[in-house]
Amino acid sequence: MSSARFEPSGPLRGALRPPSDKSISHRAALIAAMGEGLTRVTNYLEAADTVSTLNAIESLGADARRYEIGSGVQYLIKGVGLRGAKSSSIDVGKAGTLLRLLPGWLAGQVGESWTLDGDESIRRRPVDRIALPLGEMGAHLSAREDRLPPLEIEGAPLRGITYEMPIASAQVKSCLLFAGLLAVGETRVVEPLPSRDHSERMLAAAGASIEREGDAVVVRPAERLEPEMITVPADISSAAFFVVASLLVEGSEVVLEEVNVNPTRTGLLAILERMGAEVERENETEAGGEPIATLRVRSAPLQATEVGGAEIPLAIDELPLVALAACFAEGTTVIRDAEELRRKESDRIETVTAALRALGGKVEPMADGLAIEGTGGLRGGAIESHGDHRIAMLGAVAGLASSEGVEVQGMDAAAVSYPSFESDLASLLGS
Ligand code: S3P
Repeated sequence: MSSARFEPSGPLRGALRPPSDKSISHRAALIAAMGEGLTRVTNYLEAADTVSTLNAIESLGADARRYEIGSGVQYLIKGVGLRGAKSSSIDVGKAGTLLRLLPGWLAGQVGESWTLDGDESIRRRPVDRIALPLGEMGAHLSAREDRLPPLEIEGAPLRGITYEMPIASAQVKSCLLFAGLLAVGETRVVEPLPSRDHSERMLAAAGASIEREGDAVVVRPAERLEPEMITVPADISSAAFFVVASLLVEGSEVVLEEVNVNPTRTGLLAILERMGAEVERENETEAGGEPIATLRVRSAPLQATEVGGAEIPLAIDELPLVALAACFAEGTTVIRDAEELRRKESDRIETVTAALRALGGKVEPMADGLAIEGTGGLRGGAIESHGDHRIAMLGAVAGLASSEGVEVQGMDAAAVSYPSFESDLASLLGS
């Protein structure tokens, strides 16, 4: 485990393209593997979680070849077809998204079987949320204590169902949409609140029959998928660390390029704007079926806000950063309806509380969120990432804006989504 120190900094300045989107990269590899023939994936994220997905599709029989094109990277992925995945043991590493999405595809392939397992963090991530509805579709799945990995899957004939998701989860939704491609009849997934819709966009582009009807997504069985070309934009969840750092460190002005601004992912920007930030969007366009933009952020004084309800799924991975920004704001910020934070790479209600308190923040954990009393700043100190990439990077940002600096124990966790985080940060600090 490596540790790193982040000293109070001068302004952040400059421009960069944050790393490619993790959610979209996972889906690109999986849907390319489901495809017939070759799919060209441009700007695939090369980070620990998404490398786990490349390894997984290769163990199912797909072939992924890497090419360097200019400053970017391209993968040519030869799929196995929707019904062609071969039996194997799959190590998902730390990737919760892979753990939840892949079983939807595998569950419907009769005559083959798989085991999915990962590291000790993955063994705490619940899979009953997918096992229950997949079971209703006819899938044969078994998990430890009925809810935890390892997960055993035996391919079986599936039937389409209507499933009302008890929680808004893009992972559960995507899993059931994949299963629906192999089921008899139509599969209807009803969302309590909208969540990220990358799977829907990518499946439609690959030729699947998939439609939104009100709060439901409806998918029909498919003979074949032909994704052909997928371009991955930059990840707003990674850009978010520099958005918040630029807001908090006086005199900063940072430009973040090619960032995915799909409205199901931009909850953080709306929350920060309510707190007094101004994040300008320039060069708005589309890439690979997703809206992208350049974001320009300048430092600004912040006020407290309330966050809850429909905003939670749109900002779920950025809520730790909202809590950090709230320490610097005027007034008390309250985040509610976010119990899902307890089921991420760490229990983020507990790990955010511990981290911010260790730095002098006034934070109260609640069953479903956090209350943060803004004191205008943070002193600094030492925090532990608990192996959670987003907590490690939160600590780094806190350090820059603190008065005494922050030591992050377990900084290597950042490599799960953002291997070049420290060098990108150094470039914005001019060092
Ligand atoms: C993800 C969905 C979210 C998010 C996770 C990635 C995805 O999880 O927290 O980091 O790629 O579908 P849930 O949909 O389970 O909330």
